[in-house]
Amino acid sequence: MHQVGGAATSSSSRARRIARRTRDSCAAVLANTLCSLLLGVLLVAGVVLFVLWLGLRPHRPRFHIASFSVAGGLDPDSSPAGASLAFNVTDRNPNRHIGIYYDAVHASVHYYDALVASGPAFAAGWYQPNKTTTSITGLLDVLGPTTTDASWPSFSAAVRAGRVPLRLQLTTAIRFRVTNALHSGRQRMHVSCDLLVGVDGHLLPDSVGAACDRYF
Ligand SMILES: *[C@@H]1O[C@H](CO)[C@@H](O)[C@H](O)[C@H]1NC(C)=O
Ligand SMILES: *[C@@H]1O[C@H](CO)[C@@H](O)[C@H](O)[C@H]1NC(C)=O
Repeated sequence: MHQVGGAATSSSSRARRIARRTRDSCAAVLANTLCSLLLGVLLVAGVVLFVLWLGLRPHRPRFHIASFSVAGGLDPDSSPAGASLAFNVTDRNPNRHIGIYYDAVHASVHYYDALVASGPAFAAGWYQPNKTTTSITGLLDVLGPTTTDASWPSFSAAVRAGRVPLRLQLTTAIRFRVTNALHSGRQRMHVSCDLLVGVDGHLLPDSVGAACDRYF
C-alpha cells in the first residue's frame, strides 16, 4: 500500500512537474512572441517616422547678396562716415510645404572688427510662403571707419587697391509653419555675407550673387 501510495505520489509530482514545465515554456513562447511583435511594431514605427521626417523636415532659408552700394563711392583719403549704404539680399525658402515666420531683422556691416554701419533692416516681422524668394533690403548710415580709427590705414589701403572686404550680417529669429496649428519653436539666425566692394562703392563682379553663411 505504502509502495503504491509512494508511486502515486511520485507520478503525480511528475505530472505537476510536467505541467509546470509546460506552463513555463508556454509563458516563454508567449513572451518571445510578444517581444518579437513589439520589436516589429517599434521597427515599423521607426521607419515610418524616419520617412516622415525626411519628407517634412524643414530646410533653412538660403541667402545670396544681390547688391550692395555705398552712395558716392569710397575715397582713400576721407572717411565714408555720413554716407548712406544700401543692400539687397535675396532670401529663398526652399521648403515645398513649410512657410517661415521672421522676426524683425537687424543689419550690421563690418570691415574686419571695425563697425561700418548698423541698424534695422526690416523693422517688423513677416511671413514667407513655401517655395518663394523675397529680398531683404536695407538703407543704413555709414558710421566708420573714421580717419582716427586704428583700422583706418588698412581700410584706406584697401580702398586704394580697389578691393574692400566687408561683412554684412543680418540677425533675426525664425519659426517654421507646417500648418496653421503646427509651428516650430523660435530659433535665432545669423546670416553673414562676405563681400568685396570697389572704389565706386559697389560690389565687385565676383561678389554679386555670392552665397551667405548662416549660423544658428
Ligand atoms: C533685390 O534683388 C533682386 C534680385 O536681383 C531683385 O529681383 C529685386 O527687385 C531687388 N529688390 C530691390 C528692392 O531692389
Ligand atoms: C505650399 O504648400 C501648400 C500646402 O502644403 C501646397 O498646397 C502648395 O501647393 C504649396 N505651394 C507651392 C508653390 O509649392
